[in-house]
Amino acid sequence: MIELSDEIKSIPHSPTLWANDLVWEKRAKGETVYHMGFGESPFPVPERLQKALADNADKKEYYPAAGIPELLETIREYYRPLVGDYVDQCDLITAPGSKLILFALQAAIKGDLLYPDPSWVSYVPQAKLLHTKSIRVPLTLNDSGYHIDPDVLRECIKKARAEGLNPSKIILNSPNNPAGTNIPADEMEGIAKVCQEEGIFIISDEIYGLVSFDGEYNSITKYAPGISAITTGLSKHLSLGGWRFGVGFIPKGVEGLQGALCRYISETWSCINGPLQFAAIEAYKGHKDVEDHIKACTDIHALMNGTISGGLKDLGIDCPQARGAFYTYPNFAPFKKELAAAGIKTSQDVHVALLEKYNLATLPGKAFGAPEDVLTLRLSGCDYRDKAAEALKAYQNGEELNMAFVEKYAPRVLESIEIFGRFLADAGANTNKKAA
Ligand SMILES: Cc1ncc(COP(=O)(O)O)c(C=O)c1O
Repeated sequence: MIELSDEIKSIPHSPTLWANDLVWEKRAKGETVYHMGFGESPFPVPERLQKALADNADKKEYYPAAGIPELLETIREYYRPLVGDYVDQCDLITAPGSKLILFALQAAIKGDLLYPDPSWVSYVPQAKLLHTKSIRVPLTLNDSGYHIDPDVLRECIKKARAEGLNPSKIILNSPNNPAGTNIPADEMEGIAKVCQEEGIFIISDEIYGLVSFDGEYNSITKYAPGISAITTGLSKHLSLGGWRFGVGFIPKGVEGLQGALCRYISETWSCINGPLQFAAIEAYKGHKDVEDHIKACTDIHALMNGTISGGLKDLGIDCPQARGAFYTYPNFAPFKKELAAAGIKTSQDVHVALLEKYNLATLPGKAFGAPEDVLTLRLSGCDYRDKAAEALKAYQNGEELNMAFVEKYAPRVLESIEIFGRFLADAGANTNKKAA
């Protein structure tokens, strides 16, 4: 009998893509579905990039594994003002999406993974596929989001070592998915110090780095350049997830790492497709029209996510204000008793109830590393794909970003907030009392 491996069998379909598939299915049946389950920026491809891709359709060779030199140099110069001379201490690689670079880095660094709770859904399954263990680092919540206490990180490392594990790498994500938290400079410094002292390699997932609402770009590489890699790409700030373009900054300080990654690429995806490599050069040239586009999209993300967190807070739900990315990560803890009485006891229960009874797709906190009974959900504020191009144009033509803008271009975002109110009321909760 031909058997599947235990690792493959233990990996569920990526929860984000699963929710998306389900929404497509329901919408195909003509149902109105509120889609807060999938973090896909809805804006159109800038014309300059569409043209560059079309103009390079004849580029058909196998290119160097890391990427064509002109592309790598253009990316290096684009990042210089953002991360300083760290760019000179690195080699670059490119891949069909940063997800594959995260996987390749996990494969390349021996040992077990430290992952923050909450953090993105794919880090732990990737570790599992690589037969390594994942070690949870609980974060603490305050008004500005979820934070890593460097002392807690050190304790987790020590405890894991005492249990016979080999913590050797951590993945950090700022701004982060699921909570939209930006890691502040002093916290980065503290984490970097622990990682230096404990010999932990840092994988800094900066895929949302250019979707920071205050326009600040913060990178932990400033504090630990020799032991930190950056993974990033075009998927988020340019809404190009389906183009599959990722970049890795690989520190020369880790001997042999770049060579190992290039060998890995040569045995897996070989190189990224040619037309995309040439088009990506235009995305990193710093053209004013492209930069203005990125800024405008980020401003609209700030409006949508601010509206969601504000609306949920008004209902009495705990919801830190997002500082970047496309997400909010509310916690229904204030209504735990009422929800339990209605049979809703886990984040999965909240997620299923919302989808089945109200056609509102979300993702359960469980998928982001939270214990089952912690009632968190990840909400994506991107459910206005049908009007996104119009909204962007309107904003670029001077329309103000306010509640009327949300009402006009993203009515489902507002209706989703109302659904949360109905969901709580149906469970017997007094939302007005909580908010007062
Ligand atoms: C936190 C985070 N990291 C990495 C990725 C992967 O992005 P991509 O493979 O499109 O570059 C995503 C995509 O959803 C993400 O949310």
